[in-house]
Amino acid sequence: MKQVCSSQISVVPKPFVKWAGGKRQLIPVLNENLPKSFGTYYEPFLGGGALLFHILAERKGQKTSISDLNPDLVLAYATIRDRIDDLLTSLKSHESNYRKDSRSYYYLVRASSPKSDIERTSRLLFLNRTCFNGLYRVNSKGKFNVPLGKYSNPNIVNEGNLRAVSSILQSGKVSIRCRDFEAAVLRDAKQGDLVYFDPPYHPVSETANFTSYTNQDFTYKDLGRLAELCSKLDSKGCKVLLSNSDSKQVSDMFSDKQWQVDRIHANRSINSDSKKRTGHFELLIKNY
Ligand SMILES: C[S@@+](CC[C@H](N)C(=O)[O-])C[C@H]1O[C@@H](n2cnc3c(N)ncnc32)[C@H](O)[C@@H]1O
Repeated sequence: MKQVCSSQISVVPKPFVKWAGGKRQLIPVLNENLPKSFGTYYEPFLGGGALLFHILAERKGQKTSISDLNPDLVLAYATIRDRIDDLLTSLKSHESNYRKDSRSYYYLVRASSPKSDIERTSRLLFLNRTCFNGLYRVNSKGKFNVPLGKYSNPNIVNEGNLRAVSSILQSGKVSIRCRDFEAAVLRDAKQGDLVYFDPPYHPVSETANFTSYTNQDFTYKDLGRLAELCSKLDSKGCKVLLSNSDSKQVSDMFSDKQWQVDRIHANRSINSDSKKRTGHFELLIKNY
């Protein structure tokens, strides 16, 4: 009988990291809200890229410009694209060490600061697969600080998906950069292009915090900068889609008539307290 290894099976690429605020569960709603046609697709708050992978799978050869301010995350996308074999070798070594003594190996890797692109990326993927809730969080010094998760058999390597992601990113139509959202789109986006903004959410209550994806928090001032940018892109004739929390400050910023603001039901799975992982409403805002 002919054996087929998992990496040879054709896999539809999916996010390779679990990311706070990831949009996997909202793909059906986001898909319904995409314009029928658009030029280049921009996603300047990339995270795990749930909508990116959906669009790339549905629209072969789609020209895309993706970016994020988190340098480790952007490095991971570039390393998966350019050095998949070396990366898989390094991840497999993490996996076999973890199987011997998961607790001490996890904290050893968490404390390490590797310099090479391969080691930095495999560290990020390893920690993301084995940490508590798969949450990426850094402290004010930019150090990953999440404790060990409670998984009995985490899928650390997931070779089939990583190879599928690598191959779709190699298409030559995807540009990847580490940049602030404003620099990522203001100059380049043209009439007819689609820009999807999924920023760190504005807190709905005074006690709620923004999640620290980077060591720079996303502030109320950044939210204002984003609203201003959306209005500039609208004047240029770009199609703009924005996700955010269901808060009055956000809807007030998009009260002009060109913005359609919809409340959508969402199911948030990353919360350290499982009792708080209930459905809630979010805003979906668009100008087309
Ligand atoms: C809500 S997450 C995006 C989630 C993504 N849509 C997904 O499906 O996984 C927000 C992202 O914005 C990034 N970010 C925070 N501040 C930024 C900034 N000023 N410019 C660009 N990206 C930023 C964070 O690193 C994080 O990855």
